[in-house]
Amino acid sequence: MDFRVSKIVADSQKTDCMVVGVFESHRLSPSAQAINDAGAGELLKIIRRFQMQASVGNTLMLNNLHEVAASQVMLVGCGKKESMPASRYSRVLRSCMERLADGGAEDAVVCLTELDVKDRDIYWKVREVVEIARDCVYRFNQLKTDASSLKQPRLHRVTCAIATQKQKRRAEEGMHHGIGIADGVDLARDLGNLPANVCTPTYLAERARQLARREKSIKVRVMGETEMKRLGMGTLLSVARGSEEPAKLITLEYRGSRSKRHPAVLIGKGVTFDSGGISIKPAAQMDEMKFDMCGAASVLGAVKMAASLALPINLVGIVAATENLPGGTASKPGDIYTSMSGETVEVLNTDAEGRLVLCDALTYARRFEPDVVVDIATLTGACVIALGDQAAGLFSNDDRLADALLDAGEFSGDRAWRMPVWEEYAEALKSNFADVANVGGREAGAITAACFLSRFAREYRWAHLDIAGVAWRGGKSKGATGRPVRLLSQFLLDRAGRKRVS
Ligand code: BES
Ligand code: MN
Ligand code: ZN
Repeated sequence: MDFRVSKIVADSQKTDCMVVGVFESHRLSPSAQAINDAGAGELLKIIRRFQMQASVGNTLMLNNLHEVAASQVMLVGCGKKESMPASRYSRVLRSCMERLADGGAEDAVVCLTELDVKDRDIYWKVREVVEIARDCVYRFNQLKTDASSLKQPRLHRVTCAIATQKQKRRAEEGMHHGIGIADGVDLARDLGNLPANVCTPTYLAERARQLARREKSIKVRVMGETEMKRLGMGTLLSVARGSEEPAKLITLEYRGSRSKRHPAVLIGKGVTFDSGGISIKPAAQMDEMKFDMCGAASVLGAVKMAASLALPINLVGIVAATENLPGGTASKPGDIYTSMSGETVEVLNTDAEGRLVLCDALTYARRFEPDVVVDIATLTGACVIALGDQAAGLFSNDDRLADALLDAGEFSGDRAWRMPVWEEYAEALKSNFADVANVGGREAGAITAACFLSRFAREYRWAHLDIAGVAWRGGKSKGATGRPVRLLSQFLLDRAGRKRVS
């Protein structure tokens, strides 16, 4: 999709669809006012006649208004006129973009960028248009054979209105960043949506290689099982035992900063299918466990974003990829394996495989002398119970890092919420036979999982994002969301010193 930024006159601009905001009590945004004035008050007459409620996200499509160059005008309800919070602006945009995505317009001019939004400037407002528009037109049709039966969105060009020429530079920066972020989100969604018979550990490695071929600033390394064995990654390999597919440890290195600055390391859980292993899962919705590599997908998305925007940072992405299947050689409850750190782990439940994969990746990350390490994982059903689909669970051993991630989530609209990693919770992980068990009890499952990981992350500033509730949607709109690529992107933009507001 093509995006532009332009100063426009709402009534005389030609377009398939002109999108303007209206507030409660029939109060108009500047561009709605311009359209109303051009048509000698026609717009307000229509609003009154239809008794349009300008509640948030309400839309009304109008055709052939007098003295208006656009073929259609979309009125979007914006709620109260006074101080619009960022979250409301995003909701307003989403309903407008959803309507555009299943309407017939090929090009649209969005004037919502003229609205005052609390603590946000034109940069963010334009970026948000781009990210939400791309989110709404995304379709996953790669594996459908009859292209003619598919209803593809026709929308191909979106122009964001700016009020003054002075806003142009910042608006274009927002557009540029928005495109880079949306490309990362799309990659994460595509990888997540691919079925597990296609998206294997080997396939993820191939996609990482492809990324490095396209972005010269990225170097990739793929480690096979022999090398992992040599490094002592016993817990990661224990998960791979039940599967015919070989595990892969994929490392992407992006050098955007010449300085010897210590890198940020992102680690993604890449379980390409999680059957639970010998502690097998029930059949219902087991297909959704193809999404158990969404952490890995978000790492690839974030690295792609950093490279395409040439951010002046150093970044390492690590993807720990394997299947978790029951097989004749699969690990069994009670088995004990030695992790790369030297600690022994009693596998009481083979379905708690994510932490077994991640702990070796966390140990491996030490060699990059990281400034910070953030792991991203669809780790626990307990996190879904705790936070639902609104926020990722955030766990950290460092308050500054935790705040930076929370804040990046808030600014980007891809939120996280902090949970404790207190030692007291780790009591639950005691084992009679090994240094630690891989599961605690039923209580505080997301936290005991994080406590397990924290044992392997003592040597650096670390955070863990449990994205089990946010990485995909189930039911009728089943599919990967691309979260938390937007959060990670903002975190990296902040590290690059990019200004949020001017
Ligand atoms: N990948 C799952 C977590 C998951 C489950 C995410 C359902 C989204 C929906 C993870 O590997 C897992 O199976 N976790 C277990 C841990 C338990 C055995 C301690 C869980 O959450 O049930
Ligand atoms: Mn599992
Ligand atoms: Zn899993």
